[in-house]
Amino acid sequence: MVKIGVLTISDRASGGVYEDLGGKEIIAVMDDWLTCEKQYFYEIVPDELELIKDKLIYLCDEAGCDLVLTTGGTGPAPRDVTPEATEAVSEKLMPGFGELMRAESQKIVPTAILSRQIAAIRKKSLIINLPGNPKAIKECLLPVFPAVPYCIDLMGGNYITADENKIKIFRPKRK
Ligand code: MTE
Repeated sequence: MVKIGVLTISDRASGGVYEDLGGKEIIAVMDDWLTCEKQYFYEIVPDELELIKDKLIYLCDEAGCDLVLTTGGTGPAPRDVTPEATEAVSEKLMPGFGELMRAESQKIVPTAILSRQIAAIRKKSLIINLPGNPKAIKECLLPVFPAVPYCIDLMGGNYITADENKIKIFRPKRK
């Protein structure tokens, strides 16, 4: 059973001003791509550093998620603090994820560089920040997700499988 944390970070979605479409989209994409059994842990918080950190710690340490996908709060606005919260709870940064997500997104939208999204590891959880725009979820996950299952293998997590017609995951042969 693969455990996936979905954390929406938005003042307005958490306040009920609008529906959380980003969190819904993450679950829809994972349901579409992954063929393994999975369990979701869904949380939503406003853009508050301590609240984001608390939820990330809960998803990693108590829920024991293999993968935690966040949406929102990655931009330059004063209240955007998702990358800071992620870094604050992390043991290792995985800079390749942010680099590739921005590079590929830049081919789609000129404002992709405004996202400060990062990825990082806390204990046995891989945390990946995604922008708040629901359409950015797939745009960002498509380039990086092929490496996610092997990353989680190396971290000692659960075995992720996917529909290769939708996303081609890659596992190098281990010696
Ligand atoms: N990346 C992709 N793939 N698609 C997008 O639509 N939006 C950009 C950027 N990255 C976007 C994207 C914009 S306009 C902003 S302001 C930043 O992500 C930060 O978004 P966030 O604060 O909602 O996380």
